[in-house]
Amino acid sequence: MTETRRVKAIVEPQAVVEGAGVRLRRSIGTREVNYLDPFLLLDDFGSRDRNDYEAGFPLHPHRGIETVTYILSGAVQHKDTLGNAGSIGAGDIQWMTSGRGILHEEMPQVRPEGIAGFQLWVNLPAKVKMTGPRYQDVRADRIPEIESRDGSRIRVVAGTAGGVRGAVTDIAADPTYLDVLVPPRSAYRGPIPSGHTAFAYVFEGRATFPGPGREEVVVPHPRLVVLGDGDEVRVTTGEEPARFLLVSGKPLHEPIARYGPFVMNTRAEIEKALEDLRLGTFVQ
Ligand code: FE2
Repeated sequence: MTETRRVKAIVEPQAVVEGAGVRLRRSIGTREVNYLDPFLLLDDFGSRDRNDYEAGFPLHPHRGIETVTYILSGAVQHKDTLGNAGSIGAGDIQWMTSGRGILHEEMPQVRPEGIAGFQLWVNLPAKVKMTGPRYQDVRADRIPEIESRDGSRIRVVAGTAGGVRGAVTDIAADPTYLDVLVPPRSAYRGPIPSGHTAFAYVFEGRATFPGPGREEVVVPHPRLVVLGDGDEVRVTTGEEPARFLLVSGKPLHEPIARYGPFVMNTRAEIEKALEDLRLGTFVQ
């Protein structure tokens, strides 16, 4: 029997200035939602005003996590001290596993269309926090896109939808990452593994979710919708379409010690990361 996931919380993103002065909307990694195991952070950046984004994210480290960058429009130039470099453009995804450490910069390019996209941080289990860094860069045309019977359009970044496997694979959290567009007066139904943490991030239009009781909850954009447990997600639309990210992952249930871009299990491991950075032994 299927159990529909119901709304647990609806969160309005907070305005945050990050990096060298990028204005963005944060909905995970705040005082309100500090950690949604295994998700540490969700940022939504979108602006046509270059002053909001061109300062970018100059050289900075990461350890113990994955950063997932999904671009809707514009482009972000990426470069790390290991020699990896490239551009993440509209519809592309970069799933970066920092492992023991990378030092990189992420710079939104100034373009007429501005920039729009998301960055999600996924925690790594203790046993793989100190592995070597790894990138999965997937161009837009390599991300499967399916259309469901009711006309929803689903880009399958990770996990499966409609029997189609996503472009990003072999990730510890066994994640689902879908970009779903539901036309007006339609419905979306899709499986999400039971026991996994799941959320939707509504970024266009309005989406209706089953509430905790028998009621329906209409969610405007931009909102984070934390979903309760179950094995299926159901979303309907009224006169407006809805577009949202649908993300899930296996919770770690491990202690976390968090310090900016380092997320480890103990305070001592954070101290070690800072020491490695000081000694120049952070990246190997
Ligand atoms: Fe970064």
